[in-house]
Amino acid sequence: MIVLSEASSYLKPTPSARELQAATEAAKLTGCRVYYIPQGFDDLENSADAFAHIPVQDRETLGVWNGYIPTPEHYATVYQQALEKRIHLLNTPEEHLRAQEFDRAYMRLEGLTPKSVIVTDPDQCEEAIRSVGLPVFVKGAVQSRKARGWKACVAQSLEEVRLLTSQYLSLEGRTRGRVVIRELVPIRHVNKTALGFPIGREYRVFLYRSEILGHGYYWEGDDPLSALSVEENKAVLDLAIEAARRLDVPYVSMDIGQLEDGQWIVIESGDAQFSSVSLIPLLPLWHRISQLTGRNTAA
Ligand SMILES: Nc1ncnc2c1ncn2[C@@H]1O[C@H](COP(=O)(O)OP(=O)(O)O)[C@@H](O)[C@H]1O
Ligand SMILES: [Mg+2]
Repeated sequence: MIVLSEASSYLKPTPSARELQAATEAAKLTGCRVYYIPQGFDDLENSADAFAHIPVQDRETLGVWNGYIPTPEHYATVYQQALEKRIHLLNTPEEHLRAQEFDRAYMRLEGLTPKSVIVTDPDQCEEAIRSVGLPVFVKGAVQSRKARGWKACVAQSLEEVRLLTSQYLSLEGRTRGRVVIRELVPIRHVNKTALGFPIGREYRVFLYRSEILGHGYYWEGDDPLSALSVEENKAVLDLAIEAARRLDVPYVSMDIGQLEDGQWIVIESGDAQFSSVSLIPLLPLWHRISQLTGRNTAA
């Protein structure tokens, strides 16, 4: 198994850069071969230069990219460059987008996740709330603005939905022109972030071909709700497996949350190549990735 890593001592020492470094080290320790690639190819004359140091493999080999969420174009470029070295990233460009962009995933996850409508213009908000109701949770097709607090994501009136939608539409990276208006559901929680965002009882599950690679609490820090009973653990993993089967993307992360009434729901999916591992222990995770992908060498 090959890992294409964006980890670099040139990156600012942010928590995500540290995590990237740690994941790359874990991959090495579990026997993966690591090749480094730059973060984005804008400074290169041509994208093949980023792969100049990577030899063509003796045989078709599976690869995992370890980095930051790329644009769709950049994913396609890296996927193609890797193929020229006989390295097959676990997810095709289409599979990557299906896991990463909520509107593409929603069609398959409907019923497991709160009701959602996609809009591309504030004028579509009225019809959206006719179908979803109020209040709503508003996010971009790729990401929410949870770091800015609850008010940046939750709207109580049509006016607020329109305002949040136009704010989101100006954030191309999070939104890619599509805003998701979701039924606001009561997620079980005790604590809130400093900006008033409820720290919901949520778990991140990594899967490969619908088999569990690892899972752990989604939020960092102590939380009285983080421990799962045996039955709860099974419910979380069963739902993640069902969602991964429906989504049909090989290497995926599923976020599973619990409602106040005890029911488990899917919050969102992601391409696991770009998902933070949250509190999932890294070495067992990478050990399992190497094990499962080793069983499944590229065609
Ligand atoms: N429909 C919803 N109702 C209530 N809370 C939600 C809803 N969707 C998401 N959340 C909360 O908001 C957080 C961020 O939303 P999420 O869709 O995961 O966006 P991001 O991509 O920014 O992580 C989730 O972890 C969850 O706690
Ligand atoms: Mg999330």
